Amino acid sequence: MKGIVFTEFLELVENNFGLEVVDQIIEGCDLETGGIYTSVGTYSHKDMFKMVGKLSELKGVPVKDLLEIFGEYFFGTLSRDYPQFMIQENIFEFLKSIDDYIHPEVLKLYPQAELPSFEYEKLSNNEINLNYKSSRKMSDLAVGLIKGAATYFKEEVNIEKVIEENDGSYVVLKVSKIG
Ligand code: HEM
Repeated sequence: MKGIVFTEFLELVENNFGLEVVDQIIEGCDLETGGIYTSVGTYSHKDMFKMVGKLSELKGVPVKDLLEIFGEYFFGTLSRDYPQFMIQENIFEFLKSIDDYIHPEVLKLYPQAELPSFEYEKLSNNEINLNYKSSRKMSDLAVGLIKGAATYFKEEVNIEKVIEENDGSYVVLKVSKIG
């Protein structure tokens, strides 16, 4: 997993809970790196789960909620750092472009990136399914990213998990426009 995911996560924790909590997480988890990440490095996604789990324990917030909050925050960073991917006109076109364009381009930039597959399926003008597949099992992060994207495109959407299989490595997310 790319270092930017770790550095952004720790920044969010610092902004919301303070440096003390960052230290508690780093000291309380048996991390492969000892807690040192650079945005250009590549690290085990297991470290991310350890840190999110520890934050959940410290603050009494479910892991699912933390991953969603982080996804929303992370989208802000991605949209600022990669304006070349923010060229679609609306949320559905943008979501379609993740699998068709964005993640394949990310893989060219960072060949070690581990990306989910995100098949796009149109149900009607107002409803789509995104079929998430990844051994990282981070569909809650995806939900947060989609929420961030909806805010960016100034659209209101409802996101629902309609199917979840293989312990979260296959998840169908139904995204419906509201209004
Ligand atoms: C709503 C939009 C997006 C969604 C739902 C999404 C979804 C995800 C998810 C769930 C992951 C975690 C890895 C996994 O589950 O296997 C991920 C990783 C990543 N995505 Fe996306 N993504 C979106 C937009 C973007 C954009 C705009 C960029 C711009 C560069 C981007 C770049 C990345 C990168 C760099 C990683 C880390 C790969 C790694 O750690 O090895 N994504 N994405």
